[in-house]
Amino acid sequence: MAKSLSEIFKGFSKLTLDQRLSALKDTLLLTAEEAKYLKEGGMKDLSLGEKFIENVIGYFQLPLGIATHFKIDGEDYAIPMAVEETSIVAAASKTAKWVRDNGTIRTEVVGNHIIGQIQFSHVKNPENFKKEILSQKNYLIEIANREVAFGLVRRGGGVQDLQVRFVDREEHAAENVQFMGVVHVLLDPVDAMGANIINQVCEFLKQPLEHLTSEKVTMCILSNLVDTKVTRATLVMENIEPELASKIQEASIFAEQDPYRAATNNKGVLNGIDPILIATGNDWRAVEAGIHAYAARSGQYRSITRWRKEGSTLVGTFEAPLVVGTVGGVTALHPTAKIAMKMMKIQNSNHLSRICAAVGLTQNLGALRALTTIGIIEGHMKLHIRNLSLGAGAEEKEMPLLQKKLEEVLKLRKRISLSHAIEALKEIRDPQKKDSGSFSL
Ligand code: MEV
Repeated sequence: MAKSLSEIFKGFSKLTLDQRLSALKDTLLLTAEEAKYLKEGGMKDLSLGEKFIENVIGYFQLPLGIATHFKIDGEDYAIPMAVEETSIVAAASKTAKWVRDNGTIRTEVVGNHIIGQIQFSHVKNPENFKKEILSQKNYLIEIANREVAFGLVRRGGGVQDLQVRFVDREEHAAENVQFMGVVHVLLDPVDAMGANIINQVCEFLKQPLEHLTSEKVTMCILSNLVDTKVTRATLVMENIEPELASKIQEASIFAEQDPYRAATNNKGVLNGIDPILIATGNDWRAVEAGIHAYAARSGQYRSITRWRKEGSTLVGTFEAPLVVGTVGGVTALHPTAKIAMKMMKIQNSNHLSRICAAVGLTQNLGALRALTTIGIIEGHMKLHIRNLSLGAGAEEKEMPLLQKKLEEVLKLRKRISLSHAIEALKEIRDPQKKDSGSFSL
């Protein structure tokens, strides 16, 4: 009988790597073969790498961890996160446990269109431009679907709308030409991220649009500001101390109003999102670009999350474009990405997008809780001590004593650095040093 995730996640962080893999096998989320593949360091075959990019000389390995305790839309998840930063996985798991015991996370995707842009840099006759395109809109959609997006149409998607926009050239106005024209192609990519297909559709429409309008296309490409398809997550915490809820609300207002804080707040949200995108082979640069552009849509860069005290509850929301793919590309080819997708039982692209939003919002809650209470240094640095110890050159047998010493320094000084680790290691190796008084932590 398969074990449940809540069963194996009790004490998961205390297990050895072998025990963690074995526990995941017990849930049937990993096969013995997949566990062996992960334990042996994942993908080694460079021929796949050569298919992905050019001039390959090897692989760059990132640790893959599992964030535990997540319950999203009533379902339990093991969240694979590929990331180099200490304490992200621990903070996500700890906060997810807090939320699981005291609240709920609900998610949804609103809208289903991605956007392609076709630019006409100098529109001589804007009125005619708009009239011609809108009068032939259905025909243009039909040929784009027939010639390019037929596969998507079969799966229920494809090109579904065209819009005409004008962008003021302002000081770049040429003689009698004040505006550039931009055609937005709205396409439902179903389960794909859709980058290739929307670019192909835009390229294809170039010629018929030029013919129709007697204007010239300058360039075409997708837009990463996908405000036509946004992902929302709502986190409700029930049993939260009123004082803590108020502080988290204040931290949120800070990030909503001040771009300097908003940037750091949003970085913390992306600490939860990017590692899942990387683990599943998704284009994290596209998601980052979309999220930041959406955060600045009012004209000022703001937080993409919001926390409010509502009676005795704390309610957090995340809303931003989070366009991911679950078919095609690296997601379908990279063996580790395939394992990551399987572990989360991803059904379609919206499902993966919703999970990312939920984890990003939870990560944000964890950061705000820490920042408004103990600060992040203590928790973060405790986990960082091992890295500092390794960085100082400690051998495995010296680690327990060195880590103990560094924890004492941290308690005393509230900060710790590599030079502390180097000094403490010297002291362990040469106790005389301490007696001579040359080392004082
Ligand atoms: C560090 O990686 C992330 C934080 O700075 C996020 C935040 O300030 O909200 C802790």
